[in-house]
Amino acid sequence: MNKKYRKPIIAGNWKMNMLASQTKDFADELKPLLPKTRGCESVVCAPYPLIPSLVKAVKGMRVAVGAQDVSVHDKGAYTGEVSAAMLKDLGVKYCIVGHSERRAYHGETDELVNAKTKALLAPEVEITPIICVGETLDQREKGITMEWIAMQVKCALNGLTDAEVRRCVIAYEPVWAIGTGKTATAEQAQEVCEFIRATVRKLYDAKTARALPVLYGGSMNAKNCAELLACPDIDGGLIGGASLKPADFSVIINAACGE
Ligand code: PGA
Repeated sequence: MNKKYRKPIIAGNWKMNMLASQTKDFADELKPLLPKTRGCESVVCAPYPLIPSLVKAVKGMRVAVGAQDVSVHDKGAYTGEVSAAMLKDLGVKYCIVGHSERRAYHGETDELVNAKTKALLAPEVEITPIICVGETLDQREKGITMEWIAMQVKCALNGLTDAEVRRCVIAYEPVWAIGTGKTATAEQAQEVCEFIRATVRKLYDAKTARALPVLYGGSMNAKNCAELLACPDIDGGLIGGASLKPADFSVIINAACGE
């Protein structure tokens, strides 16, 4: 579908890597490698304790800071939790929701993903949720990929208005491609990203579907990014391993910006 309605987004997901003391070196190394144009959005989603130093390190650069999770609660007796308002207060602009590692290791359900999305979209917060969906290898082999993805998308967006959906990003991350070096082919990734957009079109309308950035994630790297990003329904990437190295990350950002 026509890409002119959407700005590409390249979001790094540092997962549980790096230290606060390494954020300045990362930013200094990345800075001269970034594109000169405003052709795309670049984001780094860091672990909570690294966020303040990363915000400081990327000041003046066209790089937004994101988080990797958020509480469904506003405030109160929720030991260990971090609220959307706390993230906003630190300067966070994006937040990953429902990453497959959180679904697999922390029991994150579709209902929780929906509640977290709503917490981020609250008018007093307005952080962009990057909602992750994706099938396992077993589900792909059983031929139920599309049913599974449709279910995850519908649950994540449940109860949202069209205006709220237009403030979301969806990332298609096949679980079998994450951290495995086994990337989905451009055809496989395009097929599911197009299907996600069609699902949103059915649930909402053509305008909302057209505005929604759909990213691909799963072993995207400096070598394979150009082919994936050229697909008509892939509007960017969620990058794990390759976002830890400024040289590799910048190749992906430049490819998304068309440079
Ligand atoms: P990967 O991770 O690029 O290391 O496969 C992607 C992700 O989990 O978001």
